[in-house]
Amino acid sequence: MPLPYSELVMEHFRHPHNVGRMEDPDAKAVEGSPACGDMVAVYLKVDPQTHVITDIKFESYGCASNIATGSIITDLAKGKTLEEAKSITWKQAADALGGLPPIKTHCSVLAVDGLRAAIQNYEESHGLVKERIPTDIEVVRKRLKHVMNPMTGLDVIRTKLVKAMEVKDGVIRVVIDLPADHQFAANIREDITEKLGHLWDVKEVRVEFTE
Ligand code: FES
Repeated sequence: MPLPYSELVMEHFRHPHNVGRMEDPDAKAVEGSPACGDMVAVYLKVDPQTHVITDIKFESYGCASNIATGSIITDLAKGKTLEEAKSITWKQAADALGGLPPIKTHCSVLAVDGLRAAIQNYEESHGLVKERIPTDIEVVRKRLKHVMNPMTGLDVIRTKLVKAMEVKDGVIRVVIDLPADHQFAANIREDITEKLGHLWDVKEVRVEFTE
């Protein structure tokens, strides 16, 4: 039985706004949903003086609800300051779409998580983070829970793909239980570097493979 989507959801799904990859973004994030294993990427251009989001794009590897929410939250975030955009909730996004079936809540949560992660990435890479928590193993573990294992759709911590982690003198070492020439090795390395490389006290992220 087809899901009861509103007309607005269908319209944003068929003709999504702000969709696609952005060349040379000021910040970017890829988030995965633990609920379904789908992913969303969000790219930002930000005015360095006013911190207004001047351009935003998204790519969705998710379902119709996720594409529609990506479309609406990028509409909502464009022209807002980072602080304003941070407070956009999945509920506001779902309401702006005329509602989503409850079973699809996680799809709009995923889109909003992608937006927040891209904002966080911008703030971290531009020295805007006020609360400077020292990076330790727990911070690393928490961040790695947002890196998907592309073979399962669950994160690399839960699927035990991370064999070892170490934080020493600003250098993070993560050992992944895969051969270096595995088809997803480069993706995983890129995701991990993106999630950890902007932390204020991190000088280097070394992703190693077991073979
Ligand atoms: Fe995965 Fe909707 S089912 S994003």
